[in-house]
Amino acid sequence: MEVAVFSTRSYDRRFLAQAAGPHHLVWLEARLSADTAPLARGAGAVCAFVNDTVDAAVLEVFAGLGVRLVALRSAGFNNVDLAAAKRHGIAVARVPAYSPQAVAEHAVALILALNRNIHRAYARVREGNFALDGLLGFNLHGRVAGLVGTGQIGAAAAHILLGFGCTVLAHDPFPDPALQAQGVRYCPLPDLLAEASIVSLHCPLTPATHHLIDAAALARMRPGAMLVNTSRGAMIDTPAVIAALKSGRLGHLGLDVYEEEAGLFFEDRSDSVMRDDVMARLLTFPNVLVTGHQGFFTAEAMTAIAETTMANITAFEVTGAPLHPVAAP
Ligand code: NAI
Repeated sequence: MEVAVFSTRSYDRRFLAQAAGPHHLVWLEARLSADTAPLARGAGAVCAFVNDTVDAAVLEVFAGLGVRLVALRSAGFNNVDLAAAKRHGIAVARVPAYSPQAVAEHAVALILALNRNIHRAYARVREGNFALDGLLGFNLHGRVAGLVGTGQIGAAAAHILLGFGCTVLAHDPFPDPALQAQGVRYCPLPDLLAEASIVSLHCPLTPATHHLIDAAALARMRPGAMLVNTSRGAMIDTPAVIAALKSGRLGHLGLDVYEEEAGLFFEDRSDSVMRDDVMARLLTFPNVLVTGHQGFFTAEAMTAIAETTMANITAFEVTGAPLHPVAAP
C-alpha cells in the first residue's frame, strides 16, 4: 500500500524504511494540517505523529482522496477527531506500547538531573567552576513519589522509583493489583499532591485531564515539590506553573512536553528569535529542565514503533482492520 508519512525526519526514515516490507512509503517533511493534507493524494494510508493535526477538516480531505487508514506512530491519539474518522469510514491505528521503559527512564532522567542539578553542573564545570554552592540535592531513597496514571509507562516508572527506595503513591481510575502487591499505594489525586515530593504525570490527555495541574492543584502540592510531565503538554496550565515557580512554591519542573509544542518541538529554531513568551520565561528558571518530546527517542522504541506501525498497515490491507485500532468512544 502507498503510505504518506507526515512530519518525517531522517531518524523516522531510517527506522520506518527498515520495517516497510512491501509498503511504498512517501516521505513528507510537512506537519499534517488542513493545508498539507492534500499531499496524501494517491496514498491509501497516512502515517502521522504526535503534533500532526488529524481533525475533522483533515479527515474530510482524506475521505475525498480515498485515504482509508490513519496509522499513528504514537501511543497517544488526542490529536485525532475519532468521531469524524468514524463518520468518514477511516480506520485509525496506534502503537499502544512500543517501549514504556523509554519514556519512564526519561522521566526519571529529568528527576535525577533536576534534583542533582546535573544541567547546571555540566555548564559550570566546562567553565572551570568546580564550586558546589547551589547544587545541593536530596536523596530519592525514602522520598514520596506520586505517579498520576499507572498504565504501561506509569508502571515502568513505579518499578524504577521503587528500586530507588522511594515510597510510591499513585492515582489512576483503574488501580493495578500487581503494583499494589509491590507496595504502590493508590489514593485520590489531592492526597497524592499533598504527600509527594515528586509528582510525575503518566496519563493520557482527555477532557478530564486537560489542565489537571492548575493553580488549585499546585497550591495543594508540598512547598518545594518537583513536577515532571512526560505525557502531554496540555495536562499542565503553564502560566499557573510559572506563577508557582516565581513564588518559589514549586521547587523543580521537568518537561518533555509542552502545550504549545506543535511547530516548536522537533525543529531546529536556534537561528530564530523565540516568539513563544511562555517558553522563553520557562527557560529562564535554573530549576526548570525542558526536553523537546524525546521520551520515546531510543533505538529500541523507534524500532518497535516502526514495526508496529507497519504491522498495523499490513493487517489493515489483509483483513480490513489494523492490529491496534483506536475507535470512537
Ligand atoms: P496507558 O494507556 O498504558 O496508561 C494510561 C493510564 O492513565 C491508564 O492506566 C489510565 O487508567 C490512566 N488514566 C486515565 N485517566 C486518568 C486520570 N484522570 N487520572 C489518572 N490516571 C488516569 O498509556 P501509556 O502508554 O502509559 O502512556 C501514557 C501517556 O504518555 C500517553 O497517553 C501519551 O500521552 C504519553 N506518552 C509520551 C511519550 C513521550 O515521548 N514523552 C511517548 C509515549 C506516550
